Amino acid sequence: MRKSRAKTQNQFSILTVDDDTIMTSAVESYFKKAGYIVETENDPRVAIEKVRNGHFDILLLDFLMSPICGDKVVEEIRTFNKDIYIILLTGHKSMAPPIKTIRELDIQGYYEKGPRFDQLELLVESCTKSILQMRTIRGYQDELSLMYQNLKDSYVEMIQAMRQLVDARNEYTRGHSDRVSAIAVEIAQAMGKSEEYCETIRVAGLFHDIGKIGVPDEVLLKAARLSDEEYSIIKKHSEKGAQVLSSLTAFHHIVPIVRSHHERFDGKGYPDGLQGYEIPEEARIMAVADSYDAMTSDRQYRKGLGIDKAMDELIRGKGTQFDSDIVDVMIKLIETTGREAFFQKYLEYARDSVEA
Ligand SMILES: [Fe+2]
Repeated sequence: MRKSRAKTQNQFSILTVDDDTIMTSAVESYFKKAGYIVETENDPRVAIEKVRNGHFDILLLDFLMSPICGDKVVEEIRTFNKDIYIILLTGHKSMAPPIKTIRELDIQGYYEKGPRFDQLELLVESCTKSILQMRTIRGYQDELSLMYQNLKDSYVEMIQAMRQLVDARNEYTRGHSDRVSAIAVEIAQAMGKSEEYCETIRVAGLFHDIGKIGVPDEVLLKAARLSDEEYSIIKKHSEKGAQVLSSLTAFHHIVPIVRSHHERFDGKGYPDGLQGYEIPEEARIMAVADSYDAMTSDRQYRKGLGIDKAMDELIRGKGTQFDSDIVDVMIKLIETTGREAFFQKYLEYARDSVEA
């Protein structure tokens, strides 16, 4: 017996499969003495079920068996278990399956049967080392995904806290931000954008007017039309919003969208006077969604426009205020949903979100 052989039971389990009961008994007694948990099976079909329903780290599998050979057993097992380490036992080297098959079936090694099991034990030990490494890696992966989940939870919590802060300021802003967020996501989806892109749009929509927190009440809640001076105070909100959000790493990705949501395609927007495709695409989407909602909502000083007029205005702004392609997507979206259905959907959305 090799000196390094464990005297106590280790945590590794072996299933040994051979249609020769003398062989399975010999392997069982050898590896049990070495501290492994060993189970034997003489019918290869039952062995497949044992692997399917139980947990084994290592499979010691005879190659030439009836009614099915070892390679067929491995083929079947690999359809549902890619983790188990497999060592193929052959009667003679010349009887071993070709190296190509061994690679294809992801067999970790083969052992030419002999009176001594030292070499087989070495093979099994190298499997156990790999298994331990895999367990460590999986442990790290689990820890990482837990950390990722915690980060994601804090991000969602932060969004909720920030929203409460904004909502406390003005109920109108809340309904508006919810609708702009949802409409902008619909546009992005209709443009075939990825889930990640749509999520960025969603969050940017929720906070696009966060800079309005800094606008005095008498301006923000004014029932009459704004003076030029008051309008210039309001116009600062996109820049201020970007400033506030840039101090939070979790919101860095939406800063350019918030900053540029009042830019115009013809370069006459604010705060930077960006033109055409200089304006981030997400901000061009936001501008269309924002304007649609601003036009169709009731304001302190006026009733909202109907959907037909709002659509006319969007079309009129193609290439000047808005990116024409995005307006086309929005118009198609409204027509596909049905004008009245689309209009009603966001009216209800406003009520739900304000009451929520
Ligand atoms: Fe805005």
